[in-house]
Order: sequence, then C-alpha cells, then structure tokens
Amino acid sequence: MIYNNTSSQLIRQRYSCRTYLKRPLSKTDLASLEHFATNWKEGPLGNPVRCHLTAKTKADGSSLKGLGTYGFIKNPAAFIVGAVRDKPGALEDFGYIFEQLILKATDLEIGSCWLGGTFTKSRFARLIDLEKDEIIPSVISLGYPANHRAFLDRVSRIYAGAEHRLPWEDLFFQDSWDIHLSPEEAGIFQEALKLVRLAPSASNKQPWRILKSGQHWHFFIARTPNYPPPVFDFLLGLADLQRIDIGIAMAHFELGLQEVGLQGSWLINDPYLIDPNQKLEYTATWQPD
Ligand SMILES: Cc1cc2nc3c(=O)[nH]c(=O)nc-3n(C[C@H](O)[C@H](O)[C@H](O)COP(=O)(O)O)c2cc1C
Repeated sequence: MIYNNTSSQLIRQRYSCRTYLKRPLSKTDLASLEHFATNWKEGPLGNPVRCHLTAKTKADGSSLKGLGTYGFIKNPAAFIVGAVRDKPGALEDFGYIFEQLILKATDLEIGSCWLGGTFTKSRFARLIDLEKDEIIPSVISLGYPANHRAFLDRVSRIYAGAEHRLPWEDLFFQDSWDIHLSPEEAGIFQEALKLVRLAPSASNKQPWRILKSGQHWHFFIARTPNYPPPVFDFLLGLADLQRIDIGIAMAHFELGLQEVGLQGSWLINDPYLIDPNQKLEYTATWQPD
C-alpha cells in the first residue's frame, strides 16, 4: 500500500486548497514527498515524467519568491514541478503520476492545488533545467491548509466534492454512447467509477467519458469547445489540460480497483465507435490481467 489511508478516503478528502499557513513543510513530510516523487519511473502509457520538489525553508522563507502564480495561491510552502516530452500519452502519464503525488500530500495532511494555467513558465523551467524538447504541463502548489478544520472535516463527509460534479449517467456508458451504464450494472467497478467522478479537472470541466465493452473499459475525452479560449491559450502557452484530466481519472479508476483486489493494465485499443456529436477522443483502455 502506497498511502497510510485508503485511496478512496484520500480522494474524498482532497480538494483544491489555495490558501496555506505561513509555515514550511516539516522535514519528515518533505522527505516522504520527495521519496514518493522521485520513485516514479514512467506512467502506464510508457512516458517518463521528471519531478522536482522545491520548498521554502525555515532559514530562507523567501526562497519561493518569484515563482509566480498570478495571485491565485496564498503562502505556498512548496511546489512540485514536472517535465515531459510531448509524445502520445505523455500528458495522460503526467496526470496519472502527479495526481498520485497530490494524494500522497493529502495523506500527509498537506493541502494542494493543480496549477495548469496560473504559473510563470520561465521561472519553473529554470528550476527543473527544462530541456529543449520538454514541456511543463502543470505544477502543484503545496502547504498546510489555512483552514485545517475544513480539510479534516471532509473525511467524514461521504459525498465530499460530489455536489460540483456531473451526474453519473452523463459519464459512464456501455457498448455504445446511447446506452448508459447504471451503478448496479457497474458491479464491483462501481466504487472506482465513483472515484473517477470525484477527480479534479481543469476548470472543473470533467471531460472524462468511460465506455465499458465486455472486459474493456475505454477512456475518452469529451472536448470542451473552445477550451481553453484561444487568446488565453496563446498568451499562456497552455498544455492540453484535458489530456492531463484523463490521466488523473485513470489513476483514480485504478486506485479504486486496487481496493477491491482487481489488477489490470492499460493498453491502446480504440473501439472506433460511432460518436453522433463527434467530440469524443479516444485515449486508453483498461483491461483485467
Ligand atoms: C490539469 C488541471 C489544471 C488546473 N489548473 C488550475 C489553475 O491554473 N488554477 C487554479 O486555481 N486551479 C486549477 N485547477 C484546479 C481545478 O479548478 C479544480 O480541480 C476543479 O475546479 C475542481 O475542484 P476541486 O479540485 O476542489 O475538487 C486545475 C486542475 C487540473 C486538474
């Protein structure tokens, strides 16, 4: 087990925490995070992801100055920066690995927030010695939550986060896009799908769509039209954040399945289904071992 708490507990507890205490992370927490972050070799689609953790210290409280987040984040104690080569599956692998880092932070009662648009690229690039063919798809801000009570309270709230999510029937399908998969039909996969529904996503667009076909669970992106808005995209040079969202959903799905003892693997096996609205993009498939 990679966490002290269960994955489903951590997924329910996590939320985008943007205001932190003005306190550096403890040495033991930093060491745990660092160990966890540097242990990843590659994601399930075969792409290596480089991670770098940078933290404020007691001696130098200003060491994160200049790592701008456009005012969205208050008192960050640390950031995790990641770099990948922009190849097929790389952004999904990035989302898959970074979400598990976020859950590790949650496990240590550290608040976190994905930052896909609101960070200054050049400063973080220097920090991770970005190579020519690499990109920084996103960074994560970290810190002890300013509102620690709210952070802990979420554990006891069974439906934490669910109120801001699309209904189940909009997300999960069986054999074709006009047949919905009910929670009962999902059977032992029900909890894993619930965890997908609680995943964070860029601007909370929730682009994940999953279609079950026999033993296969196919993951698709339902593209949000004009997202991100072209001008914004041009100015900030954003990565394809909706592909990161799918990687996050893949991680939640797999962690949920591990809790019920199901092991499987990811492969590329596009079912080439007819999509009446033509906005769904195939990503990857999970199948049991
Ligand atoms: C890939 C990605 C990029 C994100 N980028 C930002 C960002 O730049 N700034 C921000 O404040 N939140 C960002 N978020 C956080 C989302 O807004 C948040 O996950 C979503 O609104 C759902 O809320 P929750 O995380 O509290 O469940 C991002 C999330 C993801 C997954």
